[in-house]
Parts: sequence; C-alpha cells; structure tokens
Amino acid sequence: MDFELTDEQVLVRDTAREFAEREIAPRARDNSRNQHFDTALVARIAEQGYLGAIVPREYGGAGLDYVTYGLVVEQVGRACSAMRTVVSVQTSLVCSVIVKFGTEEQKHHWLPQLCSGDILGCFALTEPDTGSDAANQKTRATRVDGGWRLHGSKMWISNGNVAKLALVFAQTDPALGHKGIACFLVDTDQEGFVPSPIHGKMGMHGADTASIALDDVFVPEDQMLGEVGQGFKIAMTSLDSGRYSVAAGCVGICQGSLDESVKYAKERQQFGRPIASFQLVQAMIADMRVKTDAARMLVLRAGWLKDAGRPNTTETSIAKLFATEAAVWCANEAIQVHGGAGYVDDHPVERYFRDSRVTTLYEGTSQIQKMIIGRAETGINALVPDA
Ligand code: CAA
Repeated sequence: MDFELTDEQVLVRDTAREFAEREIAPRARDNSRNQHFDTALVARIAEQGYLGAIVPREYGGAGLDYVTYGLVVEQVGRACSAMRTVVSVQTSLVCSVIVKFGTEEQKHHWLPQLCSGDILGCFALTEPDTGSDAANQKTRATRVDGGWRLHGSKMWISNGNVAKLALVFAQTDPALGHKGIACFLVDTDQEGFVPSPIHGKMGMHGADTASIALDDVFVPEDQMLGEVGQGFKIAMTSLDSGRYSVAAGCVGICQGSLDESVKYAKERQQFGRPIASFQLVQAMIADMRVKTDAARMLVLRAGWLKDAGRPNTTETSIAKLFATEAAVWCANEAIQVHGGAGYVDDHPVERYFRDSRVTTLYEGTSQIQKMIIGRAETGINALVPDA
C-alpha cells in the first residue's frame, strides 16, 4: 500500500476541507440546537458532488475511488456528523447497491436524481424488534398482480422522513430465513408509507431519523433490487460501504477533537501558563493524535482494498470498530481538555461527544463488528454457536 495520496486525492481532500469549514461548520451548532434538518445545506453538499461520490459518471456520480470518497467524508464528518450521515446513507447505503445490483433501467432512473440531490434515499433494514439480527425480518412482502405488497414497520431510519426513495428489506417466505429476503425500491409517495420523526435523541440533532409504518405499500415488479433471496446479501453489501463511510466520518471527529483541543490548550491560561504546557494535558493530546492516526490508517486500508476489488468485510469492520470507539474517546477527552467550556456548545467538542455516541451503535454495534472479526479469525460463528 502506497501511503502517498495522488495529486488529485490531495486536491479533492483540500477542497472538501475548505468547503466544509466555509459552508458546513458555521451552521452545525445552530442546526443542532434547533433540531433542524438543513435541506439548503444538503443541496450545497450535493452541488459539490458528494452525494453519490462513488457512483460512475455515466449515472450522474463523481466517479471517485473509495480512498478519495473516504477523504471527503472525513472532512464532512469533522464539520458536522448530521450532514455526514446524509452523505453516508445516500452514497453508501443506497447508491452503492443500486450501482451493483440494479438493472440499467433502475440505475438510469434513480441514480442521477440521488447524485444531484434532487431526491434523498434511505435504507430501511432495522425494525423495532430486528436490530443486530438483521436476517430476522418481520416485514412481509406478498406477491400480488404486477408486483408486491409490503406490511410491517421500520425503525431508526436516517433520512426516513425526507427520502423519496426507500430501500426496504422484507421477508417473502419466513420458511426460507435470510434466503427469503428481498430488497425493494419503494417510492415513499406510495400510499401506506408513513414515516414519523423520532424525538429525544442524544445527538445528531441536525439529522433526520424516522420510524416507518408500511401498511399495504404497493411496489411494482420492476422495482425489486436484485432477486428474491438476494436481499440479505444486498443489505450486507450496503453495510460494507456504509461502515466504511461511518468510520471515515469518525476520523473527522477524532481530528476535530484534536484540533480544537490543541487550539484551546494553547489559548487557555492557568497557573500563569497555557494549559498546553502541562504534561497531563499533553498526554491527552498525544493519545488523541495516536488514535486519530490509527483510525485514519485503518480507513485508508479498507478503502485501498475496496479500490483493489479485494475482500474487505473484516478490514471494514476493524476500521468501523476502531474509528467509532476512537471518536467517542477523543470527543470525551477533548471535553476534558476544555474543562467547563467543553460542556456547552460554544465549542464543537460538546456536539462531537453527543454525535459520536451513535456511531458505535448504528450500522452494526461494536459488538457486531467484534463478532465479524472474531468469526474471521477463528472460523467459528459466535452468533450461532451450535451451527
Ligand atoms: N457481503 C455479502 N454477503 C454477505 C456479507 C457481506 N459482507 N456478510 C454475509 N453475507 C452473506 C453470507 O455469505 C451468507 O450468504 P449465503 O447464505 O449465500 O451463504 C448470508 O449473507 C448470511 O450470512 P451470515 O450467516 O453471516 O448471517 P448472520 O445472520 O450470521 O448475520 C451479521 C451476520 C454480521 C450479524 C449481520 O446480521 C449484521 O451485520 N448485523 C448487524 C446489522 C446492522 O448493521 N444493522 C444496522 C442497520 S443500518 C442503520 O444503522 C440505520 C441507518 O439509517 C444508518
């Protein structure tokens, strides 16, 4: 692996950083305070080509490789995790699998609208009683004349209230287990698709999160993504991309925590000296730097494997596990460096802390990532010990 970024990657990264600092960061605090999903800002992010960054140009995407995409996501994540979630869901969870499993008609219909930001997408896998055990889908798909009808409910769906397209996973035949699951491209304007906002979240106040009722929602035959039985594989493929994107965003939180801590520690005077001159403060800063570097290297490795077309599920889980835990840790330490000033939202570290917390939960908890890594190392499926 070559650690040197290409000139183009450096240019895209620096442009993303400049854009995120100029356009995203200044709005992050107020959007968080006001629990505002900033559609105007989403439109600006779309204009930059970040929604659908990895989608080939012929379908309206930016045609970026995964390493470059990760560099962009890091910069967006450093500025605002709520906006980074929009990029991750749209690009990784939704677009990446339409590119991989979609028919030409589906790709030409959906991808240009998603990449331009004209519409948003969401990924409806999780259900009230189906989280980590994603294969245990309770939502049912029943075959009818000309298509399918969906019944069930979904939970914790990012972009769920604002999406025009929902990737909905549903069971066609419970006897088949995960081999009965199918993925549907659902137009959310269809009757029976009823999203509701989820209130009271700890963080990600600028992100949209929904529960969704699916009451007899019709999906035409040609809007199944892949085939019956491919749904679970499609969900896992989405998550291989989504977990990478979450990890990259968390590198941004780590870097932001470090940058803010260094700045504050050099300004803040105690005992007649800047607190940066104290060894215990420097120890916190040094540990943040080490975790930030390690997280970034793991993300780069996963991206490099993806670009090389090599297996990367385990390495993606390693990056996701480490980077998300590091983000929570760094944000917490950054508040410690800031003292009381870090406990209010005058500094971004307060938001980093609240927003980072969900990243070890969504797109697979830290425990699920450890199961995937442990299974790869031992060859034993700890989730089904008797299998
Ligand atoms: N890519 C492609 N296929 C994969 C795969 C991958 N990464 N991982 C597994 N599969 C395939 C397997 O090859 C297998 O296929 P065959 O039957 O053809 O052999 C099939 O899927 C079943 O695999 P497993 O036996 O490994 O499945 P499992 O039931 O043991 O589950 C799991 C594995 C890793 C625990 C999985 O259920 C999982 O990832 N759970 C966590 C779910 C999750 O991340 N949810 C978050 C939802 S998104 C979200 O957070 C909301 C949001 O809006 C951000």
